Amino acid sequence: MSPDGGEEAGGAMSREEAARLLRQRLEMGATEVFLDGMTRAEALSMLTRAPRRATVPPPAVSATPVAARPATSSASAPALPEEYDDLRAMAMACTRCRLAEGRTQVVFSDGPSQARLMVVGEAPGANEDETGLPFVGAAGKYLDLLLATVGLSRAESVYIANVLKCRPPGNRNPLPDEIEACSPFLRRQIDLVRPEALLAVGSFAGQLLTGRERVSLGDLRGTVHSYHGVPLVVTYHPAALLRNPNWTRAFWSDLQLLRGVMDGAGGA
Ligand code: URA
Repeated sequence: MSPDGGEEAGGAMSREEAARLLRQRLEMGATEVFLDGMTRAEALSMLTRAPRRATVPPPAVSATPVAARPATSSASAPALPEEYDDLRAMAMACTRCRLAEGRTQVVFSDGPSQARLMVVGEAPGANEDETGLPFVGAAGKYLDLLLATVGLSRAESVYIANVLKCRPPGNRNPLPDEIEACSPFLRRQIDLVRPEALLAVGSFAGQLLTGRERVSLGDLRGTVHSYHGVPLVVTYHPAALLRNPNWTRAFWSDLQLLRGVMDGAGGA
């Protein structure tokens, strides 16, 4: 439930949560935040009133072994399998970061692994954690609908995965060490699925796949990038569209861009 991404938080955010989100955005180098239902003055006042340390909670650390262990850096993590099924099995048993402790299920992917398009989101929300499938909540249903408007059937042509495979508590933003621990799975998934095109929804997926961590979503969208030779379009997260319908036109124009790339790549 980041301002431009993530799933339903299940109600209005408290001031503390909103301040924490804004601060996380700034710490990640965001140059732009979307103020949904809040004035610029209100947002600034929240940021200046709360002491920085007090509102950025440290990663949840509990007495259990998984939570106490820091997220493993990709440098020291075991090598990832070359086979898709082995990769999935490894992810399903993953304890690389603290999120393993609170999850109900690992959310690896949905859709055919020979899909033409791969959509990359942020992280599972409550519905996804419950079902083990990405994008099954309101945002997911909206995504399915929007993809269908450019002739892309989720069931037949789309493979979906997230930057994080486990739900962050309370749907908070992914933390940098969680992304570092989990993103090798996504990268290997992309290598193995080798889609004709990638669609990154939301700033976490967009920044990760473009490698441009300080660039705002607004500046990443509207153009075709390349992820290791695979055409990549970055756009708004569907959850953000549900909150800000004004962005739907931009999203749709990004889908047109994507559709054009895929048509150029050969056939519907
Ligand atoms: N939001 C995401 O980014 N991914 C999901 O799977 C669900 C909601």
